[in-house]
Amino acid sequence: MEQELQRLQDEARQELNALTEIAQLEDFRIRFLGRKGSFGTIMRSLGSATPEDRPRLGQLANTVKAEIERLFEEKQSALSAGAAAAKADRDRVDLTLPGRQPTIGKLHPVTQIMNEVCAIFEGLGFSVAEGPDVEHDHYNFEALNIPAHHPARDMHDTFYVSESILLRTHTSPMQARIMEAQQPPLRVIAPGKVYRCDSDITHTPMFHQVEGFLVDKKVSFADLKGVLTVFTQKMFDKDLALRFRPSFFPFTEPSAEVDIACVFCGGKGCRVCKRTGWIEILGSGMIDPEVFKMVGYDPDIYSGFAFGVGIERMAMLKYGINDIRLYYENDLRFLSQF
Ligand code: DAH
Repeated sequence: MEQELQRLQDEARQELNALTEIAQLEDFRIRFLGRKGSFGTIMRSLGSATPEDRPRLGQLANTVKAEIERLFEEKQSALSAGAAAAKADRDRVDLTLPGRQPTIGKLHPVTQIMNEVCAIFEGLGFSVAEGPDVEHDHYNFEALNIPAHHPARDMHDTFYVSESILLRTHTSPMQARIMEAQQPPLRVIAPGKVYRCDSDITHTPMFHQVEGFLVDKKVSFADLKGVLTVFTQKMFDKDLALRFRPSFFPFTEPSAEVDIACVFCGGKGCRVCKRTGWIEILGSGMIDPEVFKMVGYDPDIYSGFAFGVGIERMAMLKYGINDIRLYYENDLRFLSQF
């Protein structure tokens, strides 16, 4: 029995040495120290020892048991210290890593361009006025020298609310509204939404325009050219060539459409400018004497110019966007680029 106890102690030491996981400890404890374990079996045979041997063997058994328990506890604390260190390692916070950037909301590209256009004209002394989206036929057409049945109405693809109420098709009605209420000199821009029953890659049923006009004594076409030249240069950040091309609008005479040298090919000719080297960016002209008469201004005393810019189109040129519908699909991959 002495030998068995000695062997048990050696065996326990070896097994404990080989253990690597905390989870294996319980199995060891049951096999060696548990009631039905190896140690228990040896202790039961103590009963068959002679009365003279019993005290000595009992004492030896206690010493062996205490030693195995000591070795067990030693291993247990070694393994749990290792596990705690490993966990601390896993959970360590690396304070040198960059923080998470919160994503910041941005203005819609159309709003950005709108603000930019307004800022340029405000810098030139224009004030900003906003009018209603739902407009009277009178301001949208009649007061702008576009009477009922005038062929120019066909170009507008109007959404009608009733026979005389409509969604404004342009921001030009603000010319009539302001001139009717105020006396010259006037320098005003009117930004806002406009509506036309039209939809394809260059048209959406709602889009944005900025109308501008200036009325005073002795205003000439040269003033119009000067203001629009400064505007396009500031907008596109370069000495961009500008072309005034004769056109027709019922509320201006003479009228001109303004083209800029194509921003995509620099004027050489490409698909976007249809090989012409020029891209149309706005309509303009000298305010028609008929318009002045309708608001009670004397056309012999006052003259003025007006222009209207499409904002989506301007943004498409500035950013090289080829489909106007992208603005209104709310895709963050598109919107967050601006
Ligand atoms: N209102 C015109 C349109 O929407 C644009 C325009 C052209 C405005 C000439 C003007 C102008 O003030 O003088 O098509």
